[in-house]
Amino acid sequence: MKFLIQRAVVLTVFLSGTTFAMKGVQNRFISQYPDAAGTELDTCETCHSPVVKDFLNQYGLDLRNNNMNFLAVEKMDSDRDGMANGEEIFGKLLPGSQSKSSGVFYFTNRMGNVTFDHDSHIDTYTRGLCVSCHQEFTFPKFFDDKTLVMDTAHDVCKTCHETNGTWAPTDCVGCHEDKRE
Ligand code: HEC
Ligand code: HEC
Ligand code: HEC
Ligand code: HEC
Repeated sequence: MKFLIQRAVVLTVFLSGTTFAMKGVQNRFISQYPDAAGTELDTCETCHSPVVKDFLNQYGLDLRNNNMNFLAVEKMDSDRDGMANGEEIFGKLLPGSQSKSSGVFYFTNRMGNVTFDHDSHIDTYTRGLCVSCHQEFTFPKFFDDKTLVMDTAHDVCKTCHETNGTWAPTDCVGCHEDKRE
């Protein structure tokens, strides 16, 4: 629920005024895939993640590049997770993200898993500044739990947490789930 509210906030901030008109693409998606109605796929985030002005994820881009032809992109694997878009949609998984929820990424980790809330970092913690984390030599705009990003993470994430003057976690267990529990 917390995430839903945050998404609604991001939407109003960035897309106010166009929301009603753009519901059209979502409606076309649901007519194409009626079983997706009411699921995690029945939101703007299937194609726009994060939900900020004009930002399409790779599934959205592939769709756009194929003139919004849903069938034409079914065989593609937009998020490079080894499952074709069609397979993911029928399995109620996001075709544009390897994550199960496009706003939150879960890194499995020997030190203790890290849950990273992308939506709230964009919406409230960094006020939409993508360059805080995405630059040429930092994080790719692609969630991939199989690639180890420890050096970037400790550099980018910890540096901001140490210097931004909030309670943002700086101790190991603040980010890495405590294995002693
Ligand atoms: C099934 C995929 C999909 C869904 C779901 C979707 N969109 Fe889009 N949206 C697109 C694509 C693809 C484009 C780019 C279209 C183009 O450039 O021709 C786009 C374009 C847009 C634009 C830019 C408008 C413009 O004229 O350039 C806005 C704003 C937008 N969408 C908002 C939303 C909102 C808000 C939602 C949820 C209510 C939503 N979209 C749901 C795929 C989607
Ligand atoms: C506080 C850090 C941070 C900020 C700010 C941030 N991102 Fe990210 N983003 C990440 C991390 C970490 C990942 C996952 C990278 C990985 O797995 O290597 C990611 C992944 C992504 C992905 C891939 C999503 C998926 O489901 O595969 C997209 C797209 C993205 N970011 C776009 C953006 C955009 C656009 C902005 C600005 C509006 C933004 N990010 C701001 C840290 C951030
Ligand atoms: C530009 C600054 C900045 C960057 C970069 C950043 N964070 Fe944060 N983070 C924050 C702030 C601010 C808070 C919340 C503090 C508050 O609410 O007062 C926070 C909170 C958190 C929390 C606490 C739980 C939550 O989501 O509220 C976790 C866990 C976290 N960040 C992980 C990460 C990880 C992992 C990265 C790198 C991928 C990262 N952060 C990058 C600023 C940042
Ligand atoms: C701000 C959040 C944050 C803090 C604080 C933090 N880490 Fe991390 N750490 C991460 C992230 C994110 C990753 C990368 C996850 C991935 O690539 O799967 C990571 C990766 C690691 C890894 C690699 C684990 C593996 O599976 O190979 C180790 C070890 C590690 N951290 C140790 C520590 C230690 C020790 C501390 C405390 C001194 C610490 N971390 C503090 C976010 C944090």
